[in-house]
Amino acid sequence: MKKILLLNGPNLNLLGKREPQVYGSETLAHIEARLKRIAATYQMELIHKQSNHEGVLIDELHEANQLQYGGVIFNPGAYTHYSYALLDAVTAINIPVIEVHLSNIHARESFRHHSVIAPAVKGQIVGLGVYGYELALLALTKLLDEQWG
Ligand code: DQA
Repeated sequence: MKKILLLNGPNLNLLGKREPQVYGSETLAHIEARLKRIAATYQMELIHKQSNHEGVLIDELHEANQLQYGGVIFNPGAYTHYSYALLDAVTAINIPVIEVHLSNIHARESFRHHSVIAPAVKGQIVGLGVYGYELALLALTKLLDEQWG
């Protein structure tokens, strides 16, 4: 069974409590449980990791690549806007990474408009709340179907 990594960055452990008007009221545990169920219907196993630490996120990307996961659904949080180390990590790996942002980063403060990670990802989904994660999962299943038939 192919594994997919759902990787959430800093402060996303507070989902549900953190600025619910921006990020919604659903907790990360709920999101994770739903995505796991959806992944199973596609014969995939979803592994979820969250970290507030840049280096841990890099290690998780390396490991998913080393273990030949089918892909990564990645919300890098605020690191999106300035972490060249995460850009390098995404560039260094061979599995598809889909960048997801719950909020519409383009409609917010100007420092959020730019993603330094975007050039290295397969695609980006922004502003659709928790559906963004589900859409990313759907996209990965399609990409993997194309790859493995
Ligand atoms: C976010 C957007 C980032 O700008 C912010 O720092 C986050 C969450 C989002 O999902 O909308 O932590 O990645």
